Amino acid sequence: MRQAEALRGVVAVDGPAGTGKSTVARRLAASLGARYLDTGAMYRAAALGVLRAGVDPAASTAVAEAVARCHIEVGTDPDVSCVLLDGEDVSREIRGPAVTRAVSPVSAVSQVRELLVAQQRRIISEATSAGGGIVVEGRDIGTVVVPDAPLKVFLTATATQRAARRAAQDGVDDVAEVRRAVERRDRFDANRATSPMCAAADAVELDTTALDVDAVVGTLHELAVARGLIVLAAGSRT
Ligand code: DC
Repeated sequence: MRQAEALRGVVAVDGPAGTGKSTVARRLAASLGARYLDTGAMYRAAALGVLRAGVDPAASTAVAEAVARCHIEVGTDPDVSCVLLDGEDVSREIRGPAVTRAVSPVSAVSQVRELLVAQQRRIISEATSAGGGIVVEGRDIGTVVVPDAPLKVFLTATATQRAARRAAQDGVDDVAEVRRAVERRDRFDANRATSPMCAAADAVELDTTALDVDAVVGTLHELAVARGLIVLAAGSRT
């Protein structure tokens, strides 16, 4: 029997849409008995709250007020997607096209980011307080949320490959339209004034275009071993 391994500390996984962040981060966390935080799901829940309040996602002051009134909770079990907006499970609704269109402008509002980054840091510190580990995915984890994370990875892939993955995931046939939407969102996320998406200076950049999920998870695992972040789980036996 293989000895069970456990992650200690934070692995930050950033990158644009369709690079496989969620699948890889979730899989890595599950294999190491660690927690998992999908920060994009939090911004999506905030965007849904804005839409439900009847607020224009481009009206930043009203957006900030609407999000401040939202109660967002997110689970950290890598095997269970759980995102609550005002107590209601919205895990499915936040993946729909209306939220996907609204989320970039909502996440560009600095007051929204302040609120959610503070909440993300609380979740991360709780997960790591007793020597535990957490894999956190997003756009600004290595640069803003946990700038001292011991392992930061920035995943990339060609726009064509990213669009193909998203289209397959969402069951959409028009890959060209998905590609346009993905590129539009990336442009917005990378050019906003507050915490734009970018690789931290000390992040390991990994092009996933030609890699499958196992290969990417394997690479992240090797990097975590090299940084001394993986220990044998308490009570594990051979
Ligand atoms: O990972 P995702 O596609 O679910 O993220 C949705 C949006 O949320 C993305 O377009 C940008 C924003 N986001 C962000 O600004 N910062 C993060 N840490 C995570 C996501």
